[in-house]
Amino acid sequence: MHGMRFSLLLVSVTVFAATQLAIAEEWEPEVAHIALPPDSIAEWYMPQNERQVWLHLMFDLRTELGAVELYLERKQQKKLVEWAVALEESYAKITEMVPEWAGEVELGATQALRDAAAAGDLENVEESVTQLRRTCSDCHSKWSASTVALYRSPDYSQLRLQDSKNGNEVDYAEAMREMSRSLVELKVARADGNFEEARKATIDLEARLRDLGESCDECHRDPSNRERFLGADALEPLKALRTSLTEPHDPKLSGRHLGTFGSTVCGGCHGVHRSLSELRSQLKP
Ligand code: HEC
Ligand code: HEC
Ligand code: HEC
Repeated sequence: MHGMRFSLLLVSVTVFAATQLAIAEEWEPEVAHIALPPDSIAEWYMPQNERQVWLHLMFDLRTELGAVELYLERKQQKKLVEWAVALEESYAKITEMVPEWAGEVELGATQALRDAAAAGDLENVEESVTQLRRTCSDCHSKWSASTVALYRSPDYSQLRLQDSKNGNEVDYAEAMREMSRSLVELKVARADGNFEEARKATIDLEARLRDLGESCDECHRDPSNRERFLGADALEPLKALRTSLTEPHDPKLSGRHLGTFGSTVCGGCHGVHRSLSELRSQLKP
């Protein structure tokens, strides 16, 4: 009797394990494909170029196409022709700059637009505008996001931070891992009631954050940016946390300060800086 129940149990455990194994073997990650722009576009962005030339071409196109639509609506032919000429020139630059994208543009459409404008054939101007707009959005839906991630996202890989404790230089990722270690030490010490150690970890963390703050003006001119995540207000919850890590300990109170600190300082800064930077390194390790 006893033996039978045991073997039944064993069978069902084996079956369960086998199903788990089958699932583990069959599962494959879903892979989303992101088309990357041709490398030739790099030459139209910083740091290869002094300016974000490609982006400014795009701004010109937007203005010119917008002007064409405006004067079409107002039926002002002279201005319409002027802007149609400018649009044709800018549009032609797309493939002068990135020849691989020849299949993405319809050079005939800007020509037809200019001819129709010159002839006062407003109906055909409108048709060409529609045709052009389609080429703009077709290309954007494929390549805007990856181009922005690759060429216009902040790059931290070259930045070095100085550790004020020992004068050592560390890169951004290493500084982050050290910060993370301090935070873990703090949490463990708090949970285990080692308050002196926990308070020491808050001081350590604060010093690391001040070191990090020295790097903000590499990219930001306005000091208010630094204030937002690392200013006195931002670091207030860390100070309050330190004060709350004493006997008699109120875990609710220290937990609240810890949460506020994590979400405003670490989480807030990650929200604007980290995702795009990580996407960039995934696309181009
Ligand atoms: C500048 C604002 C900023 C603040 C404040 C900040 N981080 Fe980061 N963190 C970043 C950026 C940017 C990256 C991505 C770095 C990269 O791509 O090289 C990052 C990455 C990380 C990583 C991943 C590191 C790796 O191995 O690549 C960890 C862990 C991390 N942060 C922890 C923290 C913790 C914990 C805090 C708060 C105590 C914090 N960070 C505060 C900007 C910040
Ligand atoms: C062959 C591809 C291609 C074509 C065609 C194209 N674009 Fe773009 N466009 C891009 C890429 C790539 C970006 C992303 C660049 C960036 O943000 O740095 C972009 C970005 C833009 C932006 C900036 C978006 C923003 O708000 O940041 C504007 C505006 C723009 N394009 C306008 C136009 C207009 C108008 C046309 C059509 C007349 C057009 N583009 C045709 C590739 C193209
Ligand atoms: C490698 C470049 C780089 C570094 C270093 C950097 N940032 Fe940024 N930061 C950016 C970019 C790019 C943006 C998004 C565009 C923008 O708003 O300027 C941004 C956005 C921000 C914003 C949001 C701005 C707004 O208008 O909403 C704040 C706040 C900010 N950063 C604070 C910081 C702080 C604090 C540090 C230092 C600890 C820092 N940044 C370091 C590149 C950087």
